[in-house]
Amino acid sequence: MKILLLGSGGREHALAWKLVQSPSVEVLYAAPGNPGIAKLPKCRLVELDSEDSEACAAFAESHAIDLTVVGPEAPLVGGIADVFAARGLKVFGPKKGAAQLEGSKAFSKALMEKYHIPTARFKTCTSLEEARAYVKEAGAPIVVKADGLAAGKGVVVAMTQGEALQALEELMGDRKFGSAGEKAVLEEYMEGEEASLLAFTDGSTVVPMVASQDHKRVFDGDKGPNTGGMGTYAPAPVVTKAVEELAIETILKPTVAAMAAEGLPYVGCLYAGLMIKDGVPKVVEFNCRFGDPETQVVLPLLEGDLAQIMLACAEGRLKEQKFSQKEGAAVCVVLASGGYPGSYVKGREITGIEEAEAAGAVVFHAGTAAKDGKLVTAGGRVLGVTATAPTIREARNAAYTAASKISFEGCFCRQDIAWRALTR
Ligand code: AMP
Ligand code: GLY
Repeated sequence: MKILLLGSGGREHALAWKLVQSPSVEVLYAAPGNPGIAKLPKCRLVELDSEDSEACAAFAESHAIDLTVVGPEAPLVGGIADVFAARGLKVFGPKKGAAQLEGSKAFSKALMEKYHIPTARFKTCTSLEEARAYVKEAGAPIVVKADGLAAGKGVVVAMTQGEALQALEELMGDRKFGSAGEKAVLEEYMEGEEASLLAFTDGSTVVPMVASQDHKRVFDGDKGPNTGGMGTYAPAPVVTKAVEELAIETILKPTVAAMAAEGLPYVGCLYAGLMIKDGVPKVVEFNCRFGDPETQVVLPLLEGDLAQIMLACAEGRLKEQKFSQKEGAAVCVVLASGGYPGSYVKGREITGIEEAEAAGAVVFHAGTAAKDGKLVTAGGRVLGVTATAPTIREARNAAYTAASKISFEGCFCRQDIAWRALTR
């Protein structure tokens, strides 16, 4: 099989790492990929813009690509899968209509309401006046969300009415996130513990992978501003067998069925962000792609042939696939550039990756670049160091031991990844 993988982050490195383990994969082209992917066997980097769907489709045609795997949400929400389908090319990832589950919070909330899928109560507002009035009526705490994509920054959990009104002013008045703020979704504040459940689906069958937990805040103890994710671990103990069963029966299956009923069959990875309280999961958000850095712990625990599973999703025959979850646990510690998620310096030389790998970890590249024969930093999140072991505690110790071998100027990481699992 010839695969084209779109994207360039840690998630894509983890996808590539798992895909090339499939005996049926002959070559994997990564566009644009990253220096970590470039070192994997069977991988070649291609200079293609993952948001230029026509150029990607032309490449897939001319290189007889059997399956294209789309990493990030933006091309999916932009309709890349439709462009490929029109040319008879196979894609792992939803078409534009189905990608609205992530691309429009107003769409996904309305779908959940219509099909009785458990989520926070909400109101979608199309004007600032309407939204202001609703905040005054509903009171705080309240959650203010941009309808459209806002690079993970479009949500404000407001503890006071004042904060909510200010968030609305920026979102709908100043258009801080452009057209993503044409509508706002105002949501009831949910208490509980969060977890991510990523699932494969071909539009009718849906099978979850191991549940994981992300650490979105930049500092230990979940303090400081939100980031793209400072680390993850799996399995997440809050997702017991019973919670998983409830999530499958009340969330995953009904959502996939609802999308099919709406004439928007969902194919790809369905990422359900869950809030769990008293053993009951509710949807915080859906994403139309793998999580980053959830993928960096979920895939190392997947027992199965990822290329075959993804192809089966694209061909509507996921039911035939046999795969399971490995025993044990995985922990990923993100090494970030000083200043992130604010501004930071790029181009710092990175050393110690081989030593970290010799210590038994897998080092996924998130924001690196090759420069004059050296590896340098090129992003806020630079590397994800993943270790697997029989228990979360052992995996965490192994990940931190490996991470300590790596250095670059300004490097920092959270010291408490997996704390919720360990304090249970
Ligand atoms: P989202 O982008 O929708 O996942 O929101 C980002 C983060 O905001 C989530 O991971 C939660 O921590 C928080 N959040 C979103 N919606 C709610 C809600 N209704 N209640 C409480 N926290 C929320
Ligand atoms: N780690 C959160 C996300 O991928 O959206």
